[in-house]
Amino acid sequence: MENLKLEELFQEKLDREEKIEPKDWMPEKYRKHLIRQVSQHAHSEVIGMQPEGNWITRAPSLRHKVVLLAKIQDEAGHGLYLYSACETLGISRDELNEQLHTGKAKYSSIFNYPTLNWADIGAVGWLVDGAAIVNQVSLQRTSFGPYARGMVRICKEESFHQRQGYEIMAEMAMGSQEQKEMAQDALNRLWWPSLMMFGPHDADSPNSGNAVKWKIKRESNDELRQKFIDKTVDQAKVIGLSIPDPDLKWNEERGHYDFGEINWDEFYQVINGNGPNNVKRLAHHKRAHDEGEWVREAATAYARKQTIKKNVA
Ligand code: 3HC
Repeated sequence: MENLKLEELFQEKLDREEKIEPKDWMPEKYRKHLIRQVSQHAHSEVIGMQPEGNWITRAPSLRHKVVLLAKIQDEAGHGLYLYSACETLGISRDELNEQLHTGKAKYSSIFNYPTLNWADIGAVGWLVDGAAIVNQVSLQRTSFGPYARGMVRICKEESFHQRQGYEIMAEMAMGSQEQKEMAQDALNRLWWPSLMMFGPHDADSPNSGNAVKWKIKRESNDELRQKFIDKTVDQAKVIGLSIPDPDLKWNEERGHYDFGEINWDEFYQVINGNGPNNVKRLAHHKRAHDEGEWVREAATAYARKQTIKKNVA
């Protein structure tokens, strides 16, 4: 009875658009749902540094290198905000890393695709960060306080990421014939995986029911995907690139673009560990984590020493 009453009061609080803070009572299922989503979001930010990091030493100019370095550094910060928000739900960073390393936790499918040339770095910034912005702007209104507040900060930085990618694509699309072909090829390879970032269709999304009820998700997978398509198709037109979808067509009645069917077999293959770079991404993360052990030990020892000094003083 007691729990039922508490759940009722909890839902009334959500329906009043009040934020849930870490110390508030929350149903265990809500807490677990958030740990799943926020941790996978954090993992995505950190793993997402790999495909771009691959091109820091190969950037075509010092300016491009500096901009890419700044973007990748931002992603690390986004991961830290999100891990910190997740830890307020009562799970440790070590547990989160262990869930990632054992495959128990996912990260965004898009990061399992390779970045083969500099145009891919443009396409990642333009499409992947563009899709992330659509999703994250919506998440600024999510019901869990620390997650919502982290999104506000992340969205500010994400806009710069999308612009730097779009600038690269524009430069190449309006450059030599070879550069234009590279930009179009990058768009052809990354367009559909970018649409998969929004998750399965609403009807096939096992988590969306609760996510919407608990106001974790404020718009559905399909609504956000449609928003992304509607704004990105016109951006492609401006720089003279074509979207690789023969079924793409403006639907006056709907006020949106109709588009072709996503390859869901590919999606489930990739999210279940069988994408082009899944093994490589996890092996790299594990190696970096192991090689970073001495930093964690030194930081912990230093913090312990500071505490002792403070207590003795
Ligand atoms: N990649 C990997 N897994 C995915 C996925 C994707 N693109 N889309 C869905 N899934 C998984 C879900 O995690 C879920 O599996 P799980 O139950 O084991 O976690 C399953 O597929 C079914 O999907 P649902 O729609 O039921 O799951 P959700 O309700 O969690 O919706 C989501 C999926 C839309 C990705 C939602 O979790 C979300 O909005 N997450 C926060 C945003 C996020 O994680 N973005 C990732 C990109 S971050 C990024 O791009 C960094 C930027 O700086 C470049």
